[in-house]
Amino acid sequence: MLSSKYLSGAAQNTLRRSQALRSYATASPTAAFAGQKGSNGKYTVTLIPGDGIGPEISESIKNIYTAAKVPIQWEEVDVTPVLKGGKTVIPDAAVNSIKKNTVALKGPLATPIGKGHVSLNLTLRRTFNLFANVRPCVSIPGYKTPYDDVNTVLIRENTEGEYSGIEHEVVDGVVQSIKLITWDASERVARYAFNYAQAHGRKRVTAVHKANIMKMSDGMFLSACRQVAKEFPQITYDEDLLDRACLRITQNPAPYSDRVMVMPNLYGDILSDMCAGLIGGLGLTPSGNIGRDASIFEAVHGSAPDIAGKGLANPTALLLSSMMMLRHMNLNGFADKIEKAALGTIAEGKHVTGDLGGKASTKEYTQAIIAKLTG
Ligand code: IPM
Ligand code: MN
Repeated sequence: MLSSKYLSGAAQNTLRRSQALRSYATASPTAAFAGQKGSNGKYTVTLIPGDGIGPEISESIKNIYTAAKVPIQWEEVDVTPVLKGGKTVIPDAAVNSIKKNTVALKGPLATPIGKGHVSLNLTLRRTFNLFANVRPCVSIPGYKTPYDDVNTVLIRENTEGEYSGIEHEVVDGVVQSIKLITWDASERVARYAFNYAQAHGRKRVTAVHKANIMKMSDGMFLSACRQVAKEFPQITYDEDLLDRACLRITQNPAPYSDRVMVMPNLYGDILSDMCAGLIGGLGLTPSGNIGRDASIFEAVHGSAPDIAGKGLANPTALLLSSMMMLRHMNLNGFADKIEKAALGTIAEGKHVTGDLGGKASTKEYTQAIIAKLTG
């Protein structure tokens, strides 16, 4: 439906990429690969410990997994960018590891602001075409916030939109940034959202948008959602403006409990932080980047350089992201068991980290979870 003659360089690449995925978008509902089991009965998963507090919180996950006897062996890779043909790229070893294993767990990576190389987080999402970013936001029992009943799932388009990175200076003092929306990427993420709702017993999909202002781009995103909605008559479909959705959720999150929200890239970035705030912050919120050939599960918080190396960091977000990973790999029993131990430890409040109002170190919190697993 879109003619490429109106698009230049980078935009055409994105269009080609999305056309290449068309067959997938219309065929298969979920990611095709969910880990490869080796001859020793274990799955190999790529681990990117990341920057700042990344290595400490990754260590915590590894220890918990060993204690829970999860059949996973980690392949640790470094994603420090290298120069290749004048571009900063992820080292081949890391790319090949993720390609081979199809599942990765990733700690936080520092992102330069306003200058420097393109965010490695984005490079990873683009390299592997991780088209849907799934961010469940569920109140943690026992961790008191002004809201007790948050239980929503946000699915963010993850490859284009305001994150296309196509920016240029028209003349001195005038800069343009292109928000690229394609039909294929919109349809693909919409279909993922409806399938997710169906698989997880959620009755409603809400598309979040600003089509009152961006009539063509968000308008097309909505058209794609409406078209996909017809294939799912048992799921209620509706639409809400981004600003109004923010207002409503913060006034009363309860009506959002039965639904999945789907939206373009930047809206999902912002709204997911807002929802994380309702349940106690980014230290408690998991995230999964789903693609056709690989999926990367990651904590959404930053690398917290101020507390790095001090043993104070809270590993919960990375741990909960890894629970999404285990369920993606159909290792549900292990996920249930570890999640119960972690949430139990938080609910007790005796061995929690400083950000949750406790005094425990990363290691003490980890040990408390392990004690519940093995006790
Ligand atoms: C996120 C982060 C990233 C984003 C940054 C680190 C590039 O904020 O995962 O939400 O903006 O998508
Ligand atoms: Mn973000």
